[in-house]
Amino acid sequence: MNLTNHDPAVGATLAATGGALPVWTDTLSVGVDVIDEDHQAFFRIAELLHVVLGDGELAQDSLIESVLNVLGEYVIGHFWREESALLRTGYAAFPDHATGHRAFGEELANIRLAYQKGDKSAAQILPKLVSNWIYKHILVEDVQYKGYLTNQTVDDRPLVYLAAEVIPPLSEEPGYPVSISSPSD
Ligand SMILES: [Fe+2]
Ligand SMILES: [Fe+2]
Repeated sequence: MNLTNHDPAVGATLAATGGALPVWTDTLSVGVDVIDEDHQAFFRIAELLHVVLGDGELAQDSLIESVLNVLGEYVIGHFWREESALLRTGYAAFPDHATGHRAFGEELANIRLAYQKGDKSAAQILPKLVSNWIYKHILVEDVQYKGYLTNQTVDDRPLVYLAAEVIPPLSEEPGYPVSISSPSD
């Protein structure tokens, strides 16, 4: 997809960054307050990772572990928030969108596992992983559902609540595409 054909303002943002650290602007809003807040939080994570790992130095373990936990929460809570609303509204591109979420979740899970097993260098990929996710998913895939979702159709409970496994698995919902595998544990 040519991003500039979809939203010239978003294309301009990408060009302005020159592939560097992504920067949030109001043109990236999907028109749903709580999702915009989730996305802005993700941009802040990217910034933080750039600071603590961007120069190739290993940061202190506690900080990396915190970031990994926040990312884990994001993958569960934010993806569920988007997917439950997209599924409910019959969004045609839901299968591809959810498949992208799964791929990111599995990649992150592998990094977390390696890190927990003692491979501290596994964290070095995080700045690139998170920035790529912003450029390839949030700025391309997420902006496409702008107009489909509203503040009224999206669950606005806090991420930490959604990530606390109080939410039902979407894979058990009627209409959930069987082609999408469940995320890795
Ligand atoms: Fe998103
Ligand atoms: Fe998404």
